[in-house]
Amino acid sequence: METGPAAWLDALDRDAVRRRQAGLRRELRPRAAGDGVVDLAGNDYLGLSRHPAVLAAAGEALTRYGLGATGSRLVRGSTEVHAALEARLAGLLGTGGALVYSSGYLANVGAVRALAGPGTLLVSDAYNHASIVDGCRGSRAEVVVAPHADVAAIERALAGRGGRRAVVVTESVFSVDGDLAPLADLHAACRRRGALLLVDDAHAVGVLGPSGAGAAAAAGLTGEPDVVVTMTLSKAFGAAGGVVAGPAALVAGLVDTGRTFIYDTALPPAVAAGALAALDLVRDGEDLRAELSDRAALVGKRLVGHQVSEPAAGVVSVAVATPAQALAWADDCRRRGVAVGCFRPPSTPDGRSRLRLTINVGVPRAVFENALDIIAECGP
Ligand SMILES: Cc1ncc(COP(=O)(O)O)c(C=O)c1O
Repeated sequence: METGPAAWLDALDRDAVRRRQAGLRRELRPRAAGDGVVDLAGNDYLGLSRHPAVLAAAGEALTRYGLGATGSRLVRGSTEVHAALEARLAGLLGTGGALVYSSGYLANVGAVRALAGPGTLLVSDAYNHASIVDGCRGSRAEVVVAPHADVAAIERALAGRGGRRAVVVTESVFSVDGDLAPLADLHAACRRRGALLLVDDAHAVGVLGPSGAGAAAAAGLTGEPDVVVTMTLSKAFGAAGGVVAGPAALVAGLVDTGRTFIYDTALPPAVAAGALAALDLVRDGEDLRAELSDRAALVGKRLVGHQVSEPAAGVVSVAVATPAQALAWADDCRRRGVAVGCFRPPSTPDGRSRLRLTINVGVPRAVFENALDIIAECGP
């Protein structure tokens, strides 16, 4: 076999050609500030990323603290903004404590690794986000990937665990199809079998539940001692950063030993301050949530003849026959000023392609409805 840099570069080129032929190339398209594109691709569900109160709070903290956190909070110190954000998040989610990470990805990896290690059984939903999958892989626990949302299969896996600790991990609102995990039933199964339940509430906090406290809260799991919640500040909060929320002792353990917290530069204080301001808007956002739910339900009515998912929150998926068709549809929409998500393998858990529309109530209603017409016109 040929070795050396030339052979390596050839192999990279051949792989790229294979991906292009399979319709699996990904393109980084330029995004201009104020490009006027209707955003039905991002996760700014409540339109808070540009809310004046959020920008003002972030701007003020930017001036006080500078651009970056300049180090981890253990090394560089923990700002009052981080502490206030964590206290308020624990209050919203009804947990003993909360710890903020620089991303939801790192919060998930940190949470899974904190709950599971060698000698633990981890039961993970087949449709879980890559960050959960990576947490599972890095945990060195035995991982059983259970069929999607199949409580009976999950309970069967738990029954076979012997004397080991067991953890069930699931998203609440699934990021690709937008369906909701059967959280109450999963928790009941965990209780029966003495397992912990880890819920990634990334797409539900701000969108579902009392005061936007998320799907775990909506399922009545607030404060349950065997439930740990993760979330991201990058979606309904319009900011960035991740959160692990659970008993205070778990948070203390993460600060002492959690590698994705300890060895990572902290969330920039300005982002934390923006997220803190967003939290008030999330809490008081019942009207925004009602509008979001109304818009999500409208998608299926407008995209007649397409296979549109039943949305549980702000994620709506539209099945497309092939990756190439999905790409062409999303490209046509973009040319006409509407950004939609285009999900193809390997980003889809079942190997099928979809368009993903995410509702953003920051988009004026008439513009949103017009965007749905454009999507319908561009469809295969
Ligand atoms: C379900 C889910 N969990 C975790 C994440 C990671 O969050 P972040 O983007 O803040 O890293 C995402 C999306 O990005 C997600 O969709």
